Amino acid sequence: MPWLASTTCSWAVIKTMTNGNLGSASQITGEDPFDSALITRLFHEVSAEFQQPFPSPALPILGAAASGPLEKESGYSSPPPVHPILSEPAPHSGTAGPQSAPSAIRSGGHAPADANTQGFGEPRCSKERFGELSSKPDVRSGHSLSHLSESESESDPSALYFVREPEKALGGGPSIIGNVGGAAPFRGFPVEKIRADFPALHQQVHGRDLIWFDNAATTHKPQSVIDAVSGFYAHDYSNVNRAAHALAQRATELYESGRDKVREFIGASSKDEIVFVRGATEAINLVAQTFGKAQVGAGDEILLTTMEHHANIVPWKILAEQTGASLRVVPINDRGELLLDHFATLLSSRTKLVAITHVSNALGTINPLEHIIPLAHAYGVPVLVDGAQSTPHIPIDVQALGADFYVFSGHKVFAPTGIGILYGRKELLESMPPYQGGGAMIQDVTFSKITYNPPPQKFEAGTQHIAGVVGLAAAIDYLQGIGMPAIAAYEHELLEYATAALAEVRGIRPIGTAASKASVLTFNVNGVDSEEVGQFLDSQGVAVRAGHHCAQPSLRRFGVEKAVRPSFAFYNTREEIDVLIRALHQLPRR
Ligand SMILES: Cc1ncc(COP(=O)(O)O)c(C=O)c1O
Repeated sequence: MPWLASTTCSWAVIKTMTNGNLGSASQITGEDPFDSALITRLFHEVSAEFQQPFPSPALPILGAAASGPLEKESGYSSPPPVHPILSEPAPHSGTAGPQSAPSAIRSGGHAPADANTQGFGEPRCSKERFGELSSKPDVRSGHSLSHLSESESESDPSALYFVREPEKALGGGPSIIGNVGGAAPFRGFPVEKIRADFPALHQQVHGRDLIWFDNAATTHKPQSVIDAVSGFYAHDYSNVNRAAHALAQRATELYESGRDKVREFIGASSKDEIVFVRGATEAINLVAQTFGKAQVGAGDEILLTTMEHHANIVPWKILAEQTGASLRVVPINDRGELLLDHFATLLSSRTKLVAITHVSNALGTINPLEHIIPLAHAYGVPVLVDGAQSTPHIPIDVQALGADFYVFSGHKVFAPTGIGILYGRKELLESMPPYQGGGAMIQDVTFSKITYNPPPQKFEAGTQHIAGVVGLAAAIDYLQGIGMPAIAAYEHELLEYATAALAEVRGIRPIGTAASKASVLTFNVNGVDSEEVGQFLDSQGVAVRAGHHCAQPSLRRFGVEKAVRPSFAFYNTREEIDVLIRALHQLPRR
């Protein structure tokens, strides 16, 4: 397999993205599927070859007294723990294809209008490709302390994410999932069928076909999600838990089965570990004001990273001001990768929590949680993971990761707004005081004494976003019908393709070129304001985000206040990327 060496990093990236979990290769069905046998075989071959350059220290029991600073030499030299999901079948195995999943795996208690899930026809975006690229990508190696500490010229376009010879990228040999040669479209992923499920993608803006590249901000909804929500309101609507009638029972069943679906989606051990909240922001605030208020005091420290979204900075700053604690920040290198050696030195007995994003919304970096979490646990420090940008793109297994808290937002995983998830390990949730008080979260109320329900109800005061839960369950069905490993692999191809093409555009300065990245492609164009770029792209039908992306420290690390950010989802295509790149070539410059 002579081409294997050159694809090892791509595999490493996918492996990191999936925590080694390429899952059940039978997750994709329908016409023209992936060669699942090839995927499985390649995965095993590469897994066997893949040497972890940054092994973790042995994982002590969380909460055990840390025996002083970890000795880096000894800690890093021990072999990594075997990742459970590398040797076991994926827990999240969908069986139906994307078309059949929504109706085959029902989330609502009503009959969905199946006819509505069809009929949008072929996507209307241009089929004309932008240029031709040949040869295959030259890739960088994975994480190692020396690798992560090294600095590179930020403005050097050759520093683009693992593509050292962009003009030669994407051709000449099989790619990571057996896509052979040239710049042929990614073979086997049923993107045309998938696109037919998303009504919002089939419209024009400013007289052009809409190209939705603002997926890191929010995602569009498949028809099955829209049907599940409207079907719930049309047939099953009631408040939950509080009445002895048929509709209350149906609504309660939908609500609680949604909780179980989320449990399965992220690999939690119990549905009691799943708390419904409004979104990632509320989940982090909840932890800060409950766990944080109880555990963090004057002189203590909360460890964050430079690449956090404001939602994972501001709640901790508020807590620090309330308690007299302080924030410590792990820096990143010029590619936007966490400096793990700094992380190790910042951990101490004063550290009460590590709060870290799984995937950076501004830079796309996928953080190596498989190293970070054991390191924090070695000090008895719990870890909150912000999964707002990981859950749409890669399979998540909170138990395999060892996360203590994991949060995400429904609207970024193709579900409605206003619904999100706080996962917390059972013992932690049980130890935490309530967040808000009100109905549904109590066992008994007198004016002298109140007793609370156990988690998760303890944290769900008042009437919840029941329809949001129904929509989230339908979205999870949809994702599992495609299969998260397949989504990760397809989006990785899109990112490789776009990264190589972007490097050809005059005056581009990429921001965030980590070796391990999700499908975010942040950049600036020399001499053109990022908002002007965004407006010009909008005039061409291409929706991107331009601004600070609610991650000002991330951008300031690169000396900029604003940037342009196309971000891809599994319903995007190479042809859409061609339109973006062509527009950038035509961008008026001063
Ligand atoms: C990494 C990250 N964390 C947290 C959030 C906040 O999510 P929400 O606004 O849905 O609460 C976002 C939103 O963009 C994000 O990208």
